[in-house]
Amino acid sequence: MVYYLIMTGDTKFNIVLIPGSVREARQGIKVACWIAGLVEARGHRVDFIDPKEKPLPFLDKMYKEYDGDASPLLDDLHHRLERADGYVFVTPEYNHGVAPALKNLIDHFQSEFFFKPAAIAGYSKGGFGGVRAIEQMRLICIELGMTPTPIPFAVSKVIDTFEKPGQPIEKEKERLVERAERWIGEFEWYLEALKNQREKRRPY
Ligand SMILES: Cc1cc2nc3c(=O)[nH]c(=O)nc-3n(C[C@H](O)[C@H](O)[C@H](O)COP(=O)(O)O)c2cc1C
Repeated sequence: MVYYLIMTGDTKFNIVLIPGSVREARQGIKVACWIAGLVEARGHRVDFIDPKEKPLPFLDKMYKEYDGDASPLLDDLHHRLERADGYVFVTPEYNHGVAPALKNLIDHFQSEFFFKPAAIAGYSKGGFGGVRAIEQMRLICIELGMTPTPIPFAVSKVIDTFEKPGQPIEKEKERLVERAERWIGEFEWYLEALKNQREKRRPY
């Protein structure tokens, strides 16, 4: 699936959104596209990096270790991650952990993420909404110098909640939008706060 960028006149922040699942029958793409739409509707630019469309081999060298000799794909990902003011990660929960394709992509990079906020969404087939994967993502983000925002966004029973990419079922819509707007609103606060501080100075 190709996700097209929509640019608005008064773009506020540049957000990289990464869905975690690359499975053929992945449910998460439905959630990720819907979140992308909500973030764009608030005036931000969404750069959708789909690990299924940009498949990376398992980690060998980190981007910084290539010393100017990285693949065009790694170069492209580096520039896009570097440009971002913040990140939205949309992860399924696999055996109580985060999606391996998402972790593999993230592991290739490091300083690109420093001092920026991360909004984490999780989902699962069952009733817990991927909260254990969300908690792991928080720790990964912290290690990479990101600030994970306090409110997580968990979608339980994902198969029953979303019917297609970008579209929750009608009876769930209002409740989901209300929760997501609060989650994104908080993310915006961190986007602004950390951007202001990055512009003033960086500790290193
Ligand atoms: C390898 C694997 C492990 C899973 N482990 C969990 C789990 O620990 N907790 C959970 O709630 N669901 C688990 N599930 C069910 C997923 O929540 C469900 O398959 C979901 O649709 C996965 O996201 P995806 O379709 O976008 O890949 C697992 C699914 C797979 C394929």
